[in-house]
Amino acid sequence: MAERILTRNFDVKNAHTLRVYRGGGGYQGWEKAKGMEPGVIAEEVKNSNLRGLGGAGFPTGVKWGFIPKGSTAPRYLVVNADEGEPGTFKDRYLMERDPHALIEGMLIAARAIGSHLGFIYIRGEYVQPWRILSDAVAEAYDAGLLGKNIQGTGFDFEIVVHRGAGAYICGEETGLISSLEGKKGWPKVKPPFPAVKGAFGQPTIVNNVETLACLPHIINRGGEWFAGLGTKTQGGTRLYSVSGHVVRPGLVEAPVSVTLRQIIYDHCGGIPGGRALKAVVPGGSSAAILTPDEIDIPMDVDGPKSKGSMIGSAGIIVMDETVSIPEALMVVARFYAHESCGQCTPCRESTGWIYKISHRIVEGKGRKEDLDTILDVAKRGAGTTICAFYDGAVGPYISYIEKFRSEFEDLIRSSAHA
Ligand SMILES: Cc1cc2nc3c(=O)[nH]c(=O)nc-3n(C[C@H](O)[C@H](O)[C@H](O)COP(=O)(O)O)c2cc1C
Ligand code: SF4
Repeated sequence: MAERILTRNFDVKNAHTLRVYRGGGGYQGWEKAKGMEPGVIAEEVKNSNLRGLGGAGFPTGVKWGFIPKGSTAPRYLVVNADEGEPGTFKDRYLMERDPHALIEGMLIAARAIGSHLGFIYIRGEYVQPWRILSDAVAEAYDAGLLGKNIQGTGFDFEIVVHRGAGAYICGEETGLISSLEGKKGWPKVKPPFPAVKGAFGQPTIVNNVETLACLPHIINRGGEWFAGLGTKTQGGTRLYSVSGHVVRPGLVEAPVSVTLRQIIYDHCGGIPGGRALKAVVPGGSSAAILTPDEIDIPMDVDGPKSKGSMIGSAGIIVMDETVSIPEALMVVARFYAHESCGQCTPCRESTGWIYKISHRIVEGKGRKEDLDTILDVAKRGAGTTICAFYDGAVGPYISYIEKFRSEFEDLIRSSAHA
């Protein structure tokens, strides 16, 4: 079995406390980083091939480099702990079981980008993780790991924990920033990207919880070591949230070279009851659906892309032969219709109408032309909106219908005969 890196403390009693975390080697990455030049830390992270683990998969070290050179403005580090993507629950475990790994990662990132103020934007429903994380932040302050002149280094870093209020769109980085600023959580047109003009108009790096939790290991053991764990274009292990029809659902940590088949059959024990696999969503609900002949792919940023899908947040939803794909599409469509922020006409209108059409198909009132209408509407709107929410919604709309068209047609035909 591969070495556990991100989950190494998950079974350790009281690993969420500073004493136990430190006892297991915690904060050694920071001890090393505090003596390193910021540019050297960023270089190490570039060498590690760490890709953002929140959804977009952008190279972390490269993103940090987008802060304008020579800017003397305050710069902020924002942790995306919104974790709203359906099928994803990895950040919750990290914050509950190993919150100091996130704080240590933040310290390292803050030193690398020259930030003295970090925000953790945590989804409102995560009450227990918020409590545990807030206690860990307080402990870090008490121990002199946060605050002014940390351990006599002259480096200041403060952390503010900010709770969201249950909107999926506040996971999108510019929506998150709007919400953090006290405004409605509406995404903004990019550019400017947050690294140039982000929170409160200042350069801001937004990184996911898991991305930051990788940093202590990268600094401790070197970027090359981390890169060597993965594939050519992505380093490390990552956390796969597996739900649905597998014998052992839950969190799986594996090198990103692991295949989707290995996750389903080796790590999660396969499909229960001897039933057949019907479909898999590989990267949270916004990822296009895959069929059983498409699961021999590495689960890095490139594998699902090679099948027209995406790794996204690595939330894997497994569906066996008992699942109705039209019903699954309706559930997903209801989610996007509910969560669209409504700023862009294609997103606001299409998500609502596609939900209504998918609902009537499931209700037995589908019409012959419905499938082509959904495909036409979905394809027209893609790429025309302020944020990637709508592109994410389009992935399931199109793939569920194109890959399982005959199931939809049978349902519509049998309804017409009823
Ligand atoms: C609709 C939408 C929802 C998103 N939700 C999340 C989320 O809940 N958590 C997250 O880390 N990233 C989310 N993202 C991605 C963020 O915009 C951003 O790319 C990410 O936080 C950057 O961190 P990373 O580079 O460490 O991945 C979402 C993106 C979109 C378009
Ligand atoms: S694409 Fe949808 S969620 Fe994103 S800004 Fe436009 S309306 Fe809002």
